[in-house]
Amino acid sequence: MSLKNRKIIVGITGGIAAYKTPNLIRLLKKDEAEVRSIMTSSATKFITALTIETVSQNPVSVEMFPEDRFAGTHHIDMADWPDLFVIAPATANFIAKVASGICDDLLSTVICATRKPILIAPAMNTNMYLNPITQKNIKFLKELGYQFIDPNEGELACNVVGWGRMAEPEEIYSYILKQFQKKKSLSNKKVLVTAGPCREAIDPVRYISNRSSGKMGYALASAAKDAGAEVTLVSGPSSLSDPSGIKVIKVESTDEMYHAVKERFPQSDILIMAAAPADFTPEIVEKRKMKKSDSMVLRLKPTIDILSSLRRQRKNQKIIGFALETDRGPENALAKLKAKALDMIVLNMMEKQTPFDSDLNRVTIIYKNGKTEKTALMPKTKLAEILIEKIATLK
Ligand code: CTP
Repeated sequence: MSLKNRKIIVGITGGIAAYKTPNLIRLLKKDEAEVRSIMTSSATKFITALTIETVSQNPVSVEMFPEDRFAGTHHIDMADWPDLFVIAPATANFIAKVASGICDDLLSTVICATRKPILIAPAMNTNMYLNPITQKNIKFLKELGYQFIDPNEGELACNVVGWGRMAEPEEIYSYILKQFQKKKSLSNKKVLVTAGPCREAIDPVRYISNRSSGKMGYALASAAKDAGAEVTLVSGPSSLSDPSGIKVIKVESTDEMYHAVKERFPQSDILIMAAAPADFTPEIVEKRKMKKSDSMVLRLKPTIDILSSLRRQRKNQKIIGFALETDRGPENALAKLKAKALDMIVLNMMEKQTPFDSDLNRVTIIYKNGKTEKTALMPKTKLAEILIEKIATLK
Protein backbone atom coordinates (compact mmCIF):
# COMPACT_ATOMS: atom_id res chain seq x y z
CA MET A 1 0.00 0.00 0.00
CA SER A 2 1.67 3.21 -1.17
CA LEU A 3 0.16 5.61 1.36
CA LYS A 4 0.57 3.43 4.44
CA ASN A 5 1.47 5.54 7.49
CA ARG A 6 1.07 8.75 5.49
CA LYS A 7 -0.86 11.43 7.33
CA ILE A 8 -3.07 13.65 5.24
CA ILE A 9 -5.39 16.47 6.29
CA VAL A 10 -8.14 17.09 3.78
CA GLY A 11 -9.45 20.65 4.00
CA ILE A 12 -12.93 21.16 2.59
CA THR A 13 -14.29 24.59 1.72
CA GLY A 14 -17.76 25.62 0.64
CA GLY A 15 -18.27 24.60 -2.96
CA ILE A 16 -20.63 22.16 -4.63
CA ALA A 17 -17.62 20.00 -5.57
CA ALA A 18 -17.45 19.10 -1.86
CA TYR A 19 -19.82 16.23 -2.71
CA LYS A 20 -16.85 14.56 -4.46
CA THR A 21 -14.48 14.86 -1.49
CA PRO A 22 -15.73 11.72 0.34
CA ASN A 23 -14.66 9.79 -2.74
CA LEU A 24 -11.16 11.31 -2.52
CA ILE A 25 -10.98 10.40 1.16
CA ARG A 26 -12.19 6.89 0.37
CA LEU A 27 -9.36 6.46 -2.19
CA LEU A 28 -6.78 7.71 0.33
CA LYS A 29 -8.13 5.43 3.06
CA LYS A 30 -8.18 2.43 0.71
CA ASP A 31 -4.46 3.03 0.28
CA GLU A 32 -4.07 3.03 4.09
CA ALA A 33 -3.41 6.75 4.54
CA GLU A 34 -4.43 8.23 7.87
CA VAL A 35 -6.89 10.99 7.03
CA ARG A 36 -8.24 13.82 9.13
CA SER A 37 -10.42 16.58 7.88
CA ILE A 38 -11.07 20.25 8.55
CA MET A 39 -14.22 21.74 7.08
CA THR A 40 -15.16 25.39 6.83
CA SER A 41 -18.64 26.18 8.06
CA SER A 42 -19.72 26.85 4.43
CA ALA A 43 -18.49 23.37 3.50
CA THR A 44 -20.89 21.90 6.06
CA LYS A 45 -23.76 23.45 4.06
CA PHE A 46 -22.80 21.27 1.08
CA ILE A 47 -21.88 18.05 2.84
CA THR A 48 -22.22 16.95 6.43
CA ALA A 49 -19.37 16.46 8.84
CA LEU A 50 -20.92 13.08 9.63
CA THR A 51 -20.32 11.89 6.06
CA ILE A 52 -16.68 12.98 6.23
CA GLU A 53 -16.24 11.43 9.68
CA THR A 54 -17.66 8.17 8.41
CA VAL A 55 -15.35 7.90 5.39
CA SER A 56 -12.26 9.23 7.17
CA GLN A 57 -12.95 7.31 10.41
CA ASN A 58 -11.80 10.36 12.34
CA PRO A 59 -13.58 13.29 13.96
CA VAL A 60 -13.91 16.33 11.71
CA SER A 61 -12.82 19.76 12.95
CA VAL A 62 -14.81 22.82 11.99
CA GLU A 63 -14.66 25.30 14.85
CA MET A 64 -11.62 27.28 15.93
CA PHE A 65 -12.90 27.18 19.51
CA PRO A 66 -15.02 24.05 19.90
CA GLU A 67 -17.16 24.00 23.01
CA ASP A 68 -16.22 20.49 24.02
CA ARG A 69 -12.49 20.99 24.52
CA PHE A 70 -9.72 23.44 25.24
CA ALA A 71 -8.41 24.48 21.87
CA GLY A 72 -5.55 26.78 22.79
CA THR A 73 -3.02 25.27 20.40
CA HIS A 74 -5.32 22.96 18.50
CA HIS A 75 -4.50 24.80 15.27
CA ILE A 76 -0.75 24.40 15.83
CA ASP A 77 -1.09 20.69 16.62
CA MET A 78 -3.07 20.23 13.41
CA ALA A 79 -0.58 22.33 11.44
CA ASP A 80 2.27 20.01 12.49
CA TRP A 81 0.47 16.68 12.24
CA PRO A 82 0.21 15.75 8.57
CA ASP A 83 2.72 14.97 5.83
CA LEU A 84 0.45 16.77 3.39
CA PHE A 85 -2.55 19.10 3.28
CA VAL A 86 -5.02 18.76 0.45
CA ILE A 87 -7.66 21.44 0.05
CA ALA A 88 -10.43 20.01 -2.10
CA PRO A 89 -12.48 21.84 -3.10
CA ALA A 90 -10.77 25.22 -2.63
CA THR A 91 -13.03 28.21 -3.30
CA ALA A 92 -11.90 31.57 -4.72
CA ASN A 93 -12.50 33.04 -1.27
CA PHE A 94 -10.31 30.47 0.45
CA ILE A 95 -7.47 30.93 -2.07
CA ALA A 96 -7.71 34.70 -1.61
CA LYS A 97 -7.54 34.30 2.17
CA VAL A 98 -4.46 32.07 1.99
CA ALA A 99 -2.78 34.50 -0.42
CA SER A 100 -3.45 37.37 2.00
CA GLY A 101 -2.53 35.49 5.17
CA ILE A 102 -6.03 35.85 6.60
CA CYS A 103 -6.82 33.50 9.48
CA ASP A 104 -10.49 33.86 10.32
CA ASP A 105 -11.49 30.24 10.80
CA LEU A 106 -9.82 26.97 11.76
CA LEU A 107 -8.83 25.89 8.24
CA SER A 108 -7.29 29.22 7.15
CA THR A 109 -5.47 29.47 10.50
CA VAL A 110 -4.03 25.97 10.28
CA ILE A 111 -2.92 26.59 6.69
CA CYS A 112 -1.24 29.84 7.75
CA ALA A 113 0.50 28.07 10.63
CA THR A 114 1.83 25.06 8.76
CA ARG A 115 5.14 24.43 7.05
CA LYS A 116 3.94 21.20 5.50
CA PRO A 117 3.30 20.83 1.76
CA ILE A 118 -0.10 22.09 0.62
CA LEU A 119 -1.96 20.88 -2.45
CA ILE A 120 -4.90 23.00 -3.56
CA ALA A 121 -7.66 21.77 -5.88
CA PRO A 122 -9.67 24.86 -6.91
CA ALA A 123 -13.33 24.55 -7.80
CA MET A 124 -15.48 27.52 -8.74
CA ASN A 125 -17.47 29.25 -11.42
CA THR A 126 -15.47 30.01 -14.61
CA ASN A 127 -15.62 33.78 -14.17
CA MET A 128 -14.47 33.49 -10.59
CA TYR A 129 -11.61 31.22 -11.68
CA LEU A 130 -10.56 33.45 -14.56
CA ASN A 131 -10.98 36.63 -12.53
CA PRO A 132 -7.54 38.30 -12.66
CA ILE A 133 -7.56 38.59 -8.86
CA THR A 134 -8.02 34.83 -8.44
CA GLN A 135 -5.39 34.18 -11.13
CA LYS A 136 -2.98 36.59 -9.42
CA ASN A 137 -3.55 34.84 -6.07
CA ILE A 138 -2.93 31.42 -7.62
CA LYS A 139 0.22 32.63 -9.39
CA PHE A 140 1.49 34.18 -6.15
CA LEU A 141 0.83 31.02 -4.14
CA LYS A 142 2.48 28.86 -6.82
CA GLU A 143 5.56 31.09 -6.60
CA LEU A 144 5.63 30.48 -2.86
CA GLY A 145 5.67 26.72 -3.43
CA TYR A 146 1.98 25.88 -2.94
CA GLN A 147 0.99 23.12 -5.32
CA PHE A 148 -2.14 23.33 -7.41
CA ILE A 149 -4.02 20.67 -9.25
CA ASP A 150 -5.70 22.81 -11.86
CA PRO A 151 -9.45 22.54 -12.41
CA ASN A 152 -10.82 20.97 -15.57
CA GLU A 153 -13.03 22.45 -18.24
CA GLY A 154 -16.54 21.08 -18.19
CA GLU A 155 -20.10 21.56 -17.18
CA LEU A 156 -20.36 23.51 -13.94
CA ALA A 157 -23.10 23.55 -11.32
CA CYS A 158 -24.22 26.95 -12.60
CA ASN A 159 -25.05 25.37 -16.00
CA VAL A 160 -22.08 27.03 -17.66
CA VAL A 161 -19.44 25.09 -19.54
CA GLY A 162 -15.97 26.34 -18.76
CA TRP A 163 -12.93 26.16 -16.52
CA GLY A 164 -13.50 25.70 -12.83
CA ARG A 165 -14.59 22.08 -12.40
CA MET A 166 -12.58 20.50 -9.61
CA ALA A 167 -10.11 17.84 -10.72
CA GLU A 168 -11.67 14.41 -10.26
CA PRO A 169 -10.90 12.58 -6.99
CA GLU A 170 -8.95 9.95 -8.97
CA GLU A 171 -6.72 12.69 -10.51
CA ILE A 172 -6.10 14.25 -7.09
CA TYR A 173 -5.37 10.83 -5.62
CA SER A 174 -2.82 9.98 -8.39
CA TYR A 175 -1.16 13.37 -7.91
CA ILE A 176 -0.82 12.71 -4.17
CA LEU A 177 0.54 9.23 -4.84
CA LYS A 178 3.20 10.64 -7.16
CA GLN A 179 4.23 13.15 -4.48
CA PHE A 180 4.89 10.39 -1.99
CA GLN A 181 6.53 8.06 -4.49
CA LYS A 182 9.15 10.63 -5.50
CA LYS A 183 12.51 9.05 -4.79
CA LYS A 184 14.31 10.64 -1.88
CA SER A 185 17.65 11.65 -3.33
CA LEU A 186 19.48 12.21 -0.03
CA SER A 187 18.23 9.34 2.12
CA ASN A 188 20.88 8.09 4.54
CA LYS A 189 22.97 11.21 4.00
CA LYS A 190 24.05 13.60 6.71
CA VAL A 191 23.98 17.19 5.52
CA LEU A 192 25.51 20.14 7.33
CA VAL A 193 24.18 23.53 6.23
CA THR A 194 25.32 26.97 7.38
CA ALA A 195 23.12 30.02 7.01
CA GLY A 196 22.79 33.66 7.87
CA PRO A 197 25.28 36.36 8.76
CA CYS A 198 27.86 36.39 11.53
CA ARG A 199 28.32 39.18 14.04
CA GLU A 200 31.73 40.40 15.16
CA ALA A 201 31.54 42.29 18.42
CA ILE A 202 33.04 45.77 18.69
CA ASP A 203 31.90 46.30 22.26
CA PRO A 204 29.10 44.76 24.37
CA VAL A 205 26.39 46.46 22.29
CA ARG A 206 27.83 46.96 18.83
CA TYR A 207 28.90 44.61 16.11
CA ILE A 208 29.96 44.36 12.47
CA SER A 209 27.75 42.19 10.30
CA ASN A 210 26.32 41.92 6.82
CA ARG A 211 22.91 41.89 5.17
CA SER A 212 22.45 38.13 4.83
CA SER A 213 18.94 37.07 6.00
CA GLY A 214 19.58 33.31 6.12
CA LYS A 215 16.59 32.60 3.85
CA MET A 216 18.57 30.68 1.23
CA GLY A 217 20.39 28.54 3.81
CA TYR A 218 17.18 27.77 5.73
CA ALA A 219 15.44 26.85 2.46
CA LEU A 220 18.35 24.55 1.56
CA ALA A 221 18.22 22.88 4.98
CA SER A 222 14.48 22.22 4.58
CA ALA A 223 14.89 20.98 1.00
CA ALA A 224 17.70 18.62 2.10
CA LYS A 225 15.44 17.28 4.86
CA ASP A 226 12.59 16.80 2.38
CA ALA A 227 15.05 14.90 0.17
CA GLY A 228 15.52 12.45 3.04
CA ALA A 229 18.73 13.75 4.64
CA GLU A 230 19.50 14.09 8.33
CA VAL A 231 20.20 17.81 8.49
CA THR A 232 22.09 20.01 10.93
CA LEU A 233 21.79 23.74 10.42
CA VAL A 234 24.45 26.03 11.87
CA SER A 235 22.84 29.43 11.82
CA GLY A 236 24.13 32.89 12.45
CA PRO A 237 21.64 35.41 13.92
CA SER A 238 18.48 35.31 11.81
CA SER A 239 14.88 36.31 12.36
CA LEU A 240 13.66 33.12 10.70
CA SER A 241 12.03 30.44 12.84
CA ASP A 242 13.72 27.07 13.19
CA PRO A 243 12.74 24.71 10.38
CA SER A 244 10.97 21.61 11.69
CA GLY A 245 12.76 18.27 11.82
CA ILE A 246 16.21 19.85 11.64
CA LYS A 247 18.82 20.19 14.37
CA VAL A 248 19.61 23.90 14.64
CA ILE A 249 22.78 25.23 16.24
CA LYS A 250 22.80 28.97 16.84
CA VAL A 251 26.07 30.88 16.64
CA GLU A 252 27.02 34.54 16.60
CA SER A 253 30.57 35.08 15.41
CA THR A 254 32.56 33.60 12.55
CA ASP A 255 34.79 31.91 15.12
CA GLU A 256 31.76 30.22 16.74
CA MET A 257 30.53 29.14 13.31
CA TYR A 258 33.99 27.76 12.54
CA HIS A 259 33.99 25.64 15.72
CA ALA A 260 30.42 24.42 15.15
CA VAL A 261 31.24 23.36 11.58
CA LYS A 262 34.62 21.85 12.43
CA GLU A 263 33.03 19.67 15.14
CA ARG A 264 30.30 18.30 12.83
CA PHE A 265 32.10 18.17 9.49
CA PRO A 266 33.77 14.75 10.02
CA GLN A 267 30.36 13.04 10.55
CA SER A 268 28.80 14.78 7.52
CA ASP A 269 28.51 13.60 3.93
CA ILE A 270 27.77 17.03 2.51
CA LEU A 271 28.58 20.56 3.66
CA ILE A 272 26.61 23.46 2.20
CA MET A 273 28.20 26.77 3.26
CA ALA A 274 25.41 29.19 2.50
CA ALA A 275 26.31 31.43 5.44
CA ALA A 276 27.93 34.81 5.06
CA PRO A 277 30.66 34.76 7.71
CA ALA A 278 32.40 38.05 8.39
CA ASP A 279 35.75 38.43 6.66
CA PHE A 280 37.10 40.75 9.36
CA THR A 281 36.73 41.03 13.10
CA PRO A 282 37.86 43.79 15.47
CA GLU A 283 41.37 43.27 16.78
CA ILE A 284 40.18 44.32 20.22
CA VAL A 285 36.67 43.82 21.63
CA GLU A 286 36.05 46.67 24.07
CA LYS A 287 34.81 45.42 27.44
CA ARG A 288 32.70 48.52 28.06
CA LYS A 289 30.37 50.37 25.75
CA MET A 290 32.35 52.90 23.72
CA LYS A 291 31.20 56.43 24.35
CA LYS A 292 30.50 58.99 21.66
CA SER A 293 33.19 61.12 23.20
CA ASP A 294 35.79 58.33 22.79
CA SER A 295 37.89 58.71 19.73
CA MET A 296 37.27 55.62 17.67
CA VAL A 297 39.69 53.83 15.38
CA LEU A 298 38.52 50.35 14.53
CA ARG A 299 41.37 48.02 13.69
CA LEU A 300 40.29 44.79 12.08
CA LYS A 301 41.98 41.44 11.57
CA PRO A 302 40.92 38.72 9.13
CA THR A 303 38.68 35.92 10.40
CA ILE A 304 39.42 32.29 9.73
CA ASP A 305 38.15 31.07 6.35
CA ILE A 306 35.93 28.16 7.41
CA LEU A 307 35.90 26.37 4.06
CA SER A 308 39.65 26.57 3.56
CA SER A 309 40.26 25.37 7.12
CA LEU A 310 38.51 22.03 6.49
CA ARG A 311 41.14 20.71 4.05
CA ARG A 312 42.93 18.48 6.53
CA GLN A 313 39.73 17.06 8.05
CA ARG A 314 38.16 16.27 4.69
CA LYS A 315 37.63 12.64 3.65
CA ASN A 316 35.17 12.36 0.79
CA GLN A 317 32.60 14.94 1.78
CA LYS A 318 31.03 16.98 -0.99
CA ILE A 319 31.48 20.68 -0.28
CA ILE A 320 29.30 23.41 -1.74
CA GLY A 321 30.14 27.07 -1.35
CA PHE A 322 28.36 30.29 -2.20
CA ALA A 323 29.79 33.45 -3.70
CA LEU A 324 28.35 36.92 -3.71
CA GLU A 325 29.91 39.17 -6.30
CA THR A 326 29.35 42.63 -7.68
CA ASP A 327 31.57 42.24 -10.73
CA ARG A 328 33.39 39.56 -12.74
CA GLY A 329 31.09 37.04 -11.06
CA PRO A 330 31.91 33.80 -12.89
CA GLU A 331 35.71 34.39 -12.80
CA ASN A 332 35.68 35.28 -9.10
CA ALA A 333 33.40 32.40 -8.20
CA LEU A 334 35.47 29.89 -10.15
CA ALA A 335 38.62 31.18 -8.42
CA LYS A 336 36.91 30.66 -5.02
CA LEU A 337 35.80 27.18 -6.04
CA LYS A 338 39.41 26.27 -6.86
CA ALA A 339 41.00 28.01 -3.87
CA LYS A 340 38.58 26.35 -1.42
CA ALA A 341 38.52 22.95 -3.25
CA LEU A 342 34.74 22.99 -3.67
CA ASP A 343 32.62 20.59 -5.69
CA MET A 344 30.17 23.29 -6.63
CA ILE A 345 29.76 27.01 -6.05
CA VAL A 346 26.52 28.96 -6.25
CA LEU A 347 27.05 32.47 -7.54
CA ASN A 348 24.79 35.34 -6.49
CA MET A 349 25.27 38.55 -8.38
CA MET A 350 24.44 41.87 -6.74
CA GLU A 351 22.20 43.26 -9.44
CA LYS A 352 19.55 45.96 -9.40
CA GLN A 353 17.49 43.58 -7.33
CA THR A 354 19.66 42.48 -4.40
CA PRO A 355 19.43 38.86 -3.23
CA PHE A 356 19.31 40.03 0.41
CA ASP A 357 16.14 39.40 2.35
CA SER A 358 14.24 38.76 -0.87
CA ASP A 359 12.10 35.64 -1.22
CA LEU A 360 13.23 35.37 -4.83
CA ASN A 361 16.65 34.67 -6.22
CA ARG A 362 18.47 33.71 -9.41
CA VAL A 363 21.90 32.13 -9.39
CA THR A 364 24.65 30.70 -11.56
CA ILE A 365 25.83 27.23 -10.56
CA ILE A 366 29.48 26.47 -11.28
CA TYR A 367 30.85 22.93 -11.03
CA LYS A 368 34.45 21.98 -10.43
CA ASN A 369 34.89 20.98 -14.09
CA GLY A 370 34.04 24.59 -14.99
CA LYS A 371 30.55 23.77 -16.33
CA THR A 372 28.05 26.54 -15.51
CA GLU A 373 24.26 26.66 -15.36
CA LYS A 374 22.02 29.71 -14.87
CA THR A 375 18.67 29.45 -13.14
CA ALA A 376 15.61 31.64 -13.66
CA LEU A 377 14.40 34.08 -10.99
CA MET A 378 12.32 31.98 -8.61
CA PRO A 379 11.34 31.61 -4.95
CA LYS A 380 14.28 30.62 -2.76
CA THR A 381 12.30 27.56 -1.62
CA LYS A 382 12.01 26.33 -5.21
CA LEU A 383 15.62 27.23 -5.96
CA ALA A 384 16.68 25.26 -2.88
CA GLU A 385 14.90 22.14 -4.17
CA ILE A 386 16.68 22.48 -7.53
CA LEU A 387 20.08 23.02 -5.88
CA ILE A 388 19.57 20.03 -3.57
CA GLU A 389 18.78 17.79 -6.56
CA LYS A 390 21.99 18.99 -8.28
CA ILE A 391 23.98 18.46 -5.08
CA ALA A 392 22.56 14.95 -4.69
CA THR A 393 23.94 13.96 -8.08
CA LEU A 394 27.44 15.44 -7.65
CA LYS A 395 30.06 12.86 -8.64
N1 CTP B 1 33.36 31.53 3.78
C1 CTP B 1 33.97 30.80 4.78
N2 CTP B 1 34.64 31.45 5.77
C2 CTP B 1 34.76 32.78 5.76
C3 CTP B 1 34.18 33.55 4.72
C4 CTP B 1 33.47 32.88 3.72
O1 CTP B 1 33.89 29.57 4.78
N3 CTP B 1 35.40 33.39 6.73
C5 CTP B 1 32.60 30.79 2.74
C6 CTP B 1 31.21 31.34 2.49
O2 CTP B 1 30.25 30.69 3.33
C7 CTP B 1 30.97 30.98 1.03
C8 CTP B 1 32.36 31.06 0.43
O3 CTP B 1 33.28 30.97 1.52
O4 CTP B 1 30.47 29.68 0.86
C9 CTP B 1 32.64 32.30 -0.34
O5 CTP B 1 32.32 33.43 0.47
P1 CTP B 1 32.48 34.92 -0.07
O6 CTP B 1 32.16 35.86 1.04
O7 CTP B 1 31.77 35.08 -1.38
O8 CTP B 1 34.00 34.97 -0.44
P2 CTP B 1 35.28 35.23 0.41
O9 CTP B 1 36.09 33.97 0.36
O10 CTP B 1 34.95 35.77 1.75
O11 CTP B 1 36.03 36.30 -0.50
P3 CTP B 1 35.67 37.85 -0.78
O12 CTP B 1 34.88 38.34 0.42
O13 CTP B 1 37.01 38.47 -0.91
O14 CTP B 1 34.87 37.91 -2.05
